[in-house]
Amino acid sequence: MKLYCHRPPRLSRCGLFAVAIATFSTILLGHYYTTEEPRVAASSFLQNTIQLGSKNLFEEAGRVNKAESKREKGERHLSEAAKTNVSHEETDTPCLHSLKSRIKEDSRFGSLFRPEVPVLMWDKHVTSWDRLQKLSPPYGWKGLSKTVVSSALMLLNHSANSWMFDAGSSASCVRCAVVGNGGILNGSRQGKDIDAHDFVFRLNGAVIKGFEDDVGTKTSFYGFTVNTMKNSLIAYATYGFNQIPQSKDLRYIFIPSDLRDYVMLKSAILGVKIEEGADRGDIPENYFGPEASAHKFKFLHPDFVNYLTERFLKSDILDTPFGYLYMPSTGALMLLTALHTCDEVSAYGFITDNYKNFSDHYYEIDKKPLLFYANHDMLLEAALWKSLHQHGLMKLYQR
Ligand SMILES: *[C@@H]1O[C@H](CO)[C@@H](O)[C@H](O)[C@H]1NC(C)=O
Ligand SMILES: *[C@@H]1O[C@H](CO)[C@@H](O)[C@H](O)[C@H]1NC(C)=O
Ligand SMILES: *[C@@H]1O[C@H](CO)[C@@H](O)[C@H](O)[C@H]1NC(C)=O
Ligand SMILES: *[C@@H]1O[C@H](CO)[C@@H](O)[C@H](O)[C@H]1NC(C)=O
Repeated sequence: MKLYCHRPPRLSRCGLFAVAIATFSTILLGHYYTTEEPRVAASSFLQNTIQLGSKNLFEEAGRVNKAESKREKGERHLSEAAKTNVSHEETDTPCLHSLKSRIKEDSRFGSLFRPEVPVLMWDKHVTSWDRLQKLSPPYGWKGLSKTVVSSALMLLNHSANSWMFDAGSSASCVRCAVVGNGGILNGSRQGKDIDAHDFVFRLNGAVIKGFEDDVGTKTSFYGFTVNTMKNSLIAYATYGFNQIPQSKDLRYIFIPSDLRDYVMLKSAILGVKIEEGADRGDIPENYFGPEASAHKFKFLHPDFVNYLTERFLKSDILDTPFGYLYMPSTGALMLLTALHTCDEVSAYGFITDNYKNFSDHYYEIDKKPLLFYANHDMLLEAALWKSLHQHGLMKLYQR
């Protein structure tokens, strides 16, 4: 395994990192795993499956292995990855109080963070086929076509595919804002603060028009799975989310949750219409704009998603019959990506203790309760954000 940097060498803080992001179709199952009353009935579960999910639960169920076997393999897989090479170059960030150094000293998180796990994936990782083909997405490539995965990865051959922050970002401490879509941002007037960061991460249905004062306008990274991206265009069209954010400097972060993500990546870089699978007929340019060459894309490493799930967001849902549906939310994966690559992180629009006081999203006109789905564990995520905030490792926007 090779060492690589989050920044081009001249900015550089190197570590053994790599990338991957994934989210399943939004499948509403109710909040059965806590003491809260279930919020949704079966009929609405089905409705939402049809409305939001491009695949239904039962198709998924047939395709994916039981949660137990996946987790056993997951742990074995992680220790194999660790054996590959645990050492990494020491940090040479010009930032005095970098997040990395603060984490190292932290009583709780010092032993949880493992900077040697790769955040991003690029062409050279194609050699990991034998190991990763044993794990289902988003943790590996089980059930995926080797031809498709390999040909997609081989296109990630630009130097920018191996680091998060492209040249030009010479700030001594890289300050990042990660903007979730939570209702807490409605009326927050945090736009200026958000835009003042060096890099702004957004994800899924990131509506900006009409909410500039609350959420800002700058977007450096947009994170998604093909499934969540396309669902967002449908579900939030009524709020003005009609196009995926595009600009010359914007970079896209793919979460590798499904073969669709590899297929979309490949077609986007090649600039061709999708000829196979669920997204057949799609024109990637419509999502990512006309100049979508390899340097526009970052691809989260399945090892990174696996490590985040095992160490930070190992939900009890994994022990239920719905365990195979579970993975960290897109927002969680983006925020944890920032926490592994930036020197300072502020989180806006993420779930807080008083989430019931806010609508699901900041752009809703009538208040909608935050619904809990079996594919994510929002309360576990809330507890993690709160703890990271309390330990001074990130700033969680609360009100
Ligand atoms: C990891 O890499 C370093 C230098 O790149 C090397 O010295 C070390 O032996 C490697 N460790 C393992 C376990 O392969
Ligand atoms: C990356 O791969 C493409 C397609 O094979 C090739 O045209 C291009 O020159 C390569 N770029 C680099 C930087 O190697
Ligand atoms: C919402 O916030 C107000 C204070 O601003 C508080 O009194 C109220 O209990 C909160 N409601 C919920 C459901 O948390
Ligand atoms: C968001 O704020 C606007 C303006 O203050 C308000 O009209 C709207 O009802 C709010 N939406 C929700 C869901 O609270």
